[in-house]
Amino acid sequence: MSGDSGNGKKNINRDEAARLTRNYLEFLANFEDSLPLPASSLKRQSDTRVLAGVKQPLPESLEAFDRQINKCKRCPLGATRTKFVFGVGNPHARIVFVGEAPGHDEDISGIPFVGRAGQLLDKMLADIGLSRQHVYICNVLKCRPPNNRDPEPTEVATCKPYLLTQLSLIKPHVIVCLGRHAAATLLDLEAPMKELRGRILPWNDRQVLVTYHPAYYLRNMNFLNLGEQDFRLLRSLYDKAVQSPSG
Ligand code: URA
Repeated sequence: MSGDSGNGKKNINRDEAARLTRNYLEFLANFEDSLPLPASSLKRQSDTRVLAGVKQPLPESLEAFDRQINKCKRCPLGATRTKFVFGVGNPHARIVFVGEAPGHDEDISGIPFVGRAGQLLDKMLADIGLSRQHVYICNVLKCRPPNNRDPEPTEVATCKPYLLTQLSLIKPHVIVCLGRHAAATLLDLEAPMKELRGRILPWNDRQVLVTYHPAYYLRNMNFLNLGEQDFRLLRSLYDKAVQSPSG
């Protein structure tokens, strides 16, 4: 059942989120049937992701998945976006960054984190000796909310399976949640950023590191040292991942 949180925003409960996820899976199954992609573009049936307890074959690649979903109109943002912002980077990345949603520059370019926040993200990466070639970058929402408003819960619930599929394909060691929307979406919890920031949390055999969104650091430069601390921790997780036998 939907409710109103009192601040004019709709809350959806887990049942509704599960219903939206089931709708998505049905949609994806039908959509895949109608796609002009060869059957071989789906991996063998045993290569599956599990979403809401339902097994689905994984798309063959990120590119194939992008082609499947980039005309999405499953929520109203499909009508207002300029470009669908799927994600960019190394398809075998050990680190995936998850932001909130495309902003103006990303909506125009179709590439995540190309505006001022993105430039800061690039710099923070460079400071730990990494670049976009080492990582993958995407968002919870693939389409820009008008005027950069916060994502609506129904938009998040509709778009989240896309993110989960991307993560299933990339299989990163570390997922960095940039800000509270990414953390709340992925970890399925509502906790203040103060409690989450700088922490490594387990998620489906992966590590999730939560840090403030680069836009937050731009507004609060005196907290940038916290971000730098988190990125140093990220670098040590990356080094461990590279050294591990499965690395
Ligand atoms: N902020 C985000 O969360 N994502 C982007 O892609 C750009 C800015």
